[in-house]
Amino acid sequence: MLIDTFDRVATDLRVSLTDRCNLRCTYCMPEEGLQWLAKPDLLSDDEIVRLIRIAVTTLGITEVRFTGGEPLLRPGLVGIVERCAALEPRPRMSLTTNGIGLKRTAAALKAAGLDRVNVSLDTLRPDVFKTLTRRDRHRDVLDGLEAARDAGLTPVKVNTVLMPGLNDDEAPDLLAWAVEHDYELRFIEQMPLDAQHGWKRDGMITAGDILASLRTRFTLTAEDDGERGSAPAERWLVDGGPHRVGVIASVTRPFCSACDRTRLTADGQVRTCLFAREETDLRAALRSDAPDEEVARLWRLAMWGKKAGSGLDDPSFLQPDRPMSAIGG
Ligand code: GTP
Ligand code: 5AD
Ligand code: SF4
Repeated sequence: MLIDTFDRVATDLRVSLTDRCNLRCTYCMPEEGLQWLAKPDLLSDDEIVRLIRIAVTTLGITEVRFTGGEPLLRPGLVGIVERCAALEPRPRMSLTTNGIGLKRTAAALKAAGLDRVNVSLDTLRPDVFKTLTRRDRHRDVLDGLEAARDAGLTPVKVNTVLMPGLNDDEAPDLLAWAVEHDYELRFIEQMPLDAQHGWKRDGMITAGDILASLRTRFTLTAEDDGERGSAPAERWLVDGGPHRVGVIASVTRPFCSACDRTRLTADGQVRTCLFAREETDLRAALRSDAPDEEVARLWRLAMWGKKAGSGLDDPSFLQPDRPMSAIGG
């Protein structure tokens, strides 16, 4: 079991498969990209599957989410999913992607055993998409979303970050579109995880702003009396249901006290939190031929250092030294 000093148990593992991306979202990375990890520093497919096997068979992990960077850029993704689907007990598996490339891979991922996908899409307007991501790939994302739904990678969730002056007027349009296409839309408060360190609390669109904007067109009913367990999204029924909309308010309504996550970076470091500053090097253990029990021990020890919360509200808050694309979103 992966338990921390606040009695939280991690059952959800987020695995970053690469720090690279084919978009350049302004809230994530600069136009020129970042200093990418060198290939030998990345975990190999075998190393990833081994760590997931240890997590699932000895540490109580039941959910595995593949992230990036952009995980579809990892050539071995389908094979990794297939090998994880053969584990006993079989973990639930999902993917968080920008959607580009899903059109090509959705059916193979489903066949390999992937259960569902979350796709990032911040706007319905191709010109705004281009400004926001610095790439002209809006159509590819829409096609990828449809391919995922058609392949049965459901429920397909859409993640949207609203940025002042760019797409903050689009919330009701996005929700109408998501309801029409049967996607579950979630709005995410922008977090201080950008490589450029440009985040400002004053400038961000809050959960309160988002809900007020949605309520100009929809009736929203809180879904579970404020009980959301360990899920980061709070959800509302749209116009009585059955469709829902979620808000992930990591800044104004953090869910840290119920957090059930542990993370692995693409270079094999355990991070106990998106905002952690400490890492535990499992790659070094793997590459020095440590047995499974030793790797599991190091992982348990890492979780013992998990902090109570993100620390975002502390005056001394320091952004983590690696950006979101390197940590794994
Ligand atoms: P499901 O609801 O199970 O589909 O997944 P999810 O919402 O946890 O996953 P997803 O990868 O779609 O992440 C959505 C947003 O939640 C992203 O912006 C993540 O960065 C954010 N998020 C994921 N894990 C954490 C976390 O541990 N802490 C915080 N504050 N935010 C997180
Ligand atoms: N704040 C909030 N969400 C972010 N994402 C990427 N960077 C940030 C940030 N700084 C989102 C992506 C993706 C998810 C994994 O995290 O849009 O949907
Ligand atoms: Fe790529 Fe995701 Fe970062 Fe956008 S937010 S640049 S899609 S890693």
